Amino acid sequence: MGSVSLKIGDGTARFKRATFCSSAANILMIFSVITTNLFALYAFTASSNHNQTQLLHHNNKNFSLISEQVSLILREIDSSQKKLAQMEKELLGYESFDLSRPNIANELKVYLQHHQLPLGKDSKTGITEMVSSVGHFCEKNSDLLSQYMNYKAYGPCYDDWSVAQKLILKGCEPLPRRRCFTKTVSKVGLLHPFPNSLWKPIANKTVNWSGLSCKNFPCLNGKKLGKDCIGCFDLVNGFENQRFIKGRSKNDFLIDDVLVLGSGGIRIGFDVGGGSGTFAARMADRNVTVISATLNIDAPFSEFIAARGLFPLYLSLDHRFPFYDNVFDLVHASSTLDVGGKPEKLEFLMFDIDRVLRPGGLFWLDNFYYANEEKKKALTQLIEWFGYKKLKWVVGEKADNGKSVVVLSAVLQKPVRV
Ligand SMILES: *[C@@H]1O[C@H](CO)[C@@H](O)[C@H](O)[C@H]1NC(C)=O
Ligand SMILES: *[C@@H]1O[C@H](CO)[C@@H](O)[C@H](O)[C@H]1NC(C)=O
Ligand SMILES: *[C@@H]1O[C@H](CO)[C@@H](O)[C@H](O)[C@H]1NC(C)=O
Ligand SMILES: *[C@@H]1O[C@H](CO)[C@@H](O)[C@H](O)[C@H]1NC(C)=O
Repeated sequence: MGSVSLKIGDGTARFKRATFCSSAANILMIFSVITTNLFALYAFTASSNHNQTQLLHHNNKNFSLISEQVSLILREIDSSQKKLAQMEKELLGYESFDLSRPNIANELKVYLQHHQLPLGKDSKTGITEMVSSVGHFCEKNSDLLSQYMNYKAYGPCYDDWSVAQKLILKGCEPLPRRRCFTKTVSKVGLLHPFPNSLWKPIANKTVNWSGLSCKNFPCLNGKKLGKDCIGCFDLVNGFENQRFIKGRSKNDFLIDDVLVLGSGGIRIGFDVGGGSGTFAARMADRNVTVISATLNIDAPFSEFIAARGLFPLYLSLDHRFPFYDNVFDLVHASSTLDVGGKPEKLEFLMFDIDRVLRPGGLFWLDNFYYANEEKKKALTQLIEWFGYKKLKWVVGEKADNGKSVVVLSAVLQKPVRV
């Protein structure tokens, strides 16, 4: 029970509460069955005895025996109820974070305090308390977490964004909230109005470069920041300003060709692993609003995307997407989808992508690297399971660091499932 997640939103809490209720009901049911049977047993032995005198003689003794048994059962029920209450607390989360441990930052304790609902028990859900959410892997990294939560309340936060990101990458997501003022960078006069902002170079001064090895954007251009970001901060030279409107291979689909496949119904989209936001920028040119999921791995991706006038979503791909079911017209993903680990990891991610995509919506898989045959088989099988309509499907080769790799690009349409 101790390992049960602390990450409890409304839905989970409700679900857990329901399980608790049913298990409590089950146990109570078993006890009542036992009690009834015991009574039946005594009644049966009583009626089958024809010797009335003996019956009367034994009656007193037997009644005390029965009441002894009953009180035993009642005690048993009482202790089970206490155990269940404890289990409920653990399920709701706040018992699994050991706050009595030394070196736990006080602000963490304050944040994790549970609060009674102002009007008592909620009649619809049965929930009585509110729990602050924090990822269950935070418990595993409690030293780092305490470092993150060690600050002066109402004062400035330390310059510790890398600690925060490290925690996220270790699975401590969501991070707890803090009561300190985050560092700021004045952007007055540095930002361009929309839509010019989409393609103008971003001023070095819009970013606080502390903790990063580069101290300006031209420095980043000389770095390979992952498969989908080679010179991706350079909006003037290089290929970034050509992406999605010019193809370098048959695996590079053009944005307008894909939009046609959506028959005019593409208005909002989600870019999984959005790089520097160029996909969203191209879409913005076509009046489609795209949210780009990104972390700040070795570069200020979030600041850059925001400075372009686009929506950066600071979230790891291990986190359930914070969107409701069937909302997006389009989801775009590339090799960032290759999350590594067991096939189940990719399955969970793909099911979540499927969940947020609306029926009839498009899933654009863009130059996904087939690292090996196994990966290829796993992904193809997954796509078959989902029953998507293959509107485009191109397997090709691509040069990567001098060697040739196999890539898949596809546009798939989510079916209506009934
Ligand atoms: C009372 O219990 C005794 C055993 O403790 C049993 O022999 C007897 O039949 C019982 N009498 C009645 C009336 O149930
Ligand atoms: C960046 O943040 C650090 C820590 O908050 C601060 O000391 C530094 O002055 C900031 N640099 C700029 C350019 O704002
Ligand atoms: C950023 O700083 C570099 C190095 O000082 C400079 O060459 C470049 O022009 C600057 N870029 C912008 C957009 O300010
Ligand atoms: C985007 O919307 C604006 C304002 O409604 C309109 O003027 C423009 O033509 C649209 N662009 C495209 C590519 O549809």
